[in-house]
Amino acid sequence: MTGTEDHASSTSSGTSPAGAATGPSGAFGTVAAPFMVVSEAVDGVYSAPKAEATAEVAIHPFAHALHYGSACFEGLKAHRGVDDVVRLFRHERHVARMRRTAQLLHLPPPPAELLEQAIVMATAENLEVAPPSPGALYLRPLLLGTEPNIGAAAAPSATALLLVLASPVGDYFAAGAAALTLKLETSLPRTTPQFGEAKAGANYVMALGPTLAARAEHGAAQVLFAPDGVVQETGAANFLLLDDGRVVTPPLDSSFLHGVTRDSILQLARDLGYRVEERRLTVDELVRWPGEAALAGTAAVLAGVGRLITDDGPVTFGDGTAGPNTTRLREALVAIQRAERADAHGWLTEVPAER
Ligand SMILES: Cc1ncc(COP(=O)(O)O)c(C=O)c1O
Repeated sequence: MTGTEDHASSTSSGTSPAGAATGPSGAFGTVAAPFMVVSEAVDGVYSAPKAEATAEVAIHPFAHALHYGSACFEGLKAHRGVDDVVRLFRHERHVARMRRTAQLLHLPPPPAELLEQAIVMATAENLEVAPPSPGALYLRPLLLGTEPNIGAAAAPSATALLLVLASPVGDYFAAGAAALTLKLETSLPRTTPQFGEAKAGANYVMALGPTLAARAEHGAAQVLFAPDGVVQETGAANFLLLDDGRVVTPPLDSSFLHGVTRDSILQLARDLGYRVEERRLTVDELVRWPGEAALAGTAAVLAGVGRLITDDGPVTFGDGTAGPNTTRLREALVAIQRAERADAHGWLTEVPAER
């Protein structure tokens, strides 16, 4: 590990495309904003976060994360409001979840205050490239076990590197775009049952095979994991059922990610008078559901699910497009993020210009 001086091991390419302020160019997550924030932990003590030009970082080839999976991340957004002010959305929740994930990986959890500071700093340093809605500045805190020890399969990394990266992004699933097709998977869990709430790379690589197969064979955007006929989530978002008066979704447990967007949508649904049911959701009920289905996530926002491919054939939700309740709740969330509607729950944090 390279101590606290500048981490850039060589000049880098692909940072901050010109004109990013008018909307990012490039697929979601492929455009690097000009600045990142860095902090290192030695024996659990993190150095003061520092902003640096986004560039490659030097990692020892024996680093724990490269061999034993001590790597985790978060994903949250800063939104440019209609008043041109940039605000982070519920970053405290993402900080809490990252600390929980770090605990599950036996990495030193960054202090909440330090991680919040690093996220605000990464946003403030990149304000210029935060695109207008429906785009946003996507923040990617990343935590890696860096101890150079390839014999440490059964020991935690004593050192860690925290980076907060930023990327101007567009809409992952454009509003009004065709509703998604999912492939139902009933023989595989999303990940190992006790580890689903960790936002760790290991969980994504586990879902990659089924997801690629579903895309190739059925043109499905994602796989809905429902081992033994009980619905969990997809490989990249939480799953909800909706109709004119209800929102139904699985209750939180350790087998899947505790989504911040899921929590926000359920709160807005309650505010709008929907009955929210966080309960066991079986495939039997799912395939007979007369209403709408949707995916919730920072990238997905609330995206309509039109079709579900099952072993017994396809199931269509509603008329196969994003339903009126899905659209209503999505718009309610986006209106808050754009500062068009009052932030009744204090979910937004204004980010002052750093310089
Ligand atoms: C597997 C998985 N589930 C759920 C979510 C939704 O979480 P959030 O709303 O906090 O973004 C994500 C988001 O990235 C995810 O990767």
